[in-house]
Amino acid sequence: MTVVAIDGPAGSGKSTIAAALAERLGFAHVDTGAYYRAGTLAVLRSGIDLRDGAGCARVIGDLTIERRAGRTLVDGVDVEDDIRGPEVTATVSAVSAHPAVRAALLGAQRAAVSPAGAVVEGRDVGSVVVPDADLKVWLTASPLERAARRAAQVGTADADAIATHADSIKRRDADDASQMLRSTGAIEIDTTGVAVDEIVSRLVRLAQRAGTAGGDRA
Ligand code: DC
Repeated sequence: MTVVAIDGPAGSGKSTIAAALAERLGFAHVDTGAYYRAGTLAVLRSGIDLRDGAGCARVIGDLTIERRAGRTLVDGVDVEDDIRGPEVTATVSAVSAHPAVRAALLGAQRAAVSPAGAVVEGRDVGSVVVPDADLKVWLTASPLERAARRAAQVGTADADAIATHADSIKRRDADDASQMLRSTGAIEIDTTGVAVDEIVSRLVRLAQRAGTAGGDRA
């Protein structure tokens, strides 16, 4: 099997590129951030103190989190829209910073890595989730481009809106710093001003080469 690990900060293009690459290769797309978001939603709904790492991990450890056709299910219920909302986005960094929470979600994330091949995206994928991935990629983009992408996702190109997104991206980088574990051996790609198709085509070639060189590890 071939496993591609794609890590990078918010707005670096991870999700778009990982989804397109998985499609092109016919691989599973594993969005590890969705697991943290689903766990955070359950923690918020439980009313437990977000600073209580053991408590958060207990809540999360009791859940069954699955991804099906790009949607996230918790105990069989589709929560995809809720986990992308502002409440979860504002609190997911704090919850995912607890080592006990990370330990509680690791098994489900690894179980989603299909033996038929997978593109796995997140912050610590190449270093922790699938450290033996055939290809490891670290995506970056300029702060302005990252903010502009976030603004575009909510349908605006207004300068004030972009500045607001730049502030929140800066905050998220700081909050996610402990989780952003860049793997040694990851190829860095700066996506600033580069078309998604161009990056995906490059990664298809790299993944095919890495899969061949890595042999059959299934
Ligand atoms: O990729 P995303 O923005 O949906 O991720 C949401 C949060 O989850 C992110 O702010 C940090 C956390 N996360 C993490 O700690 N480790 C990962 N492998 C993926 C996400």
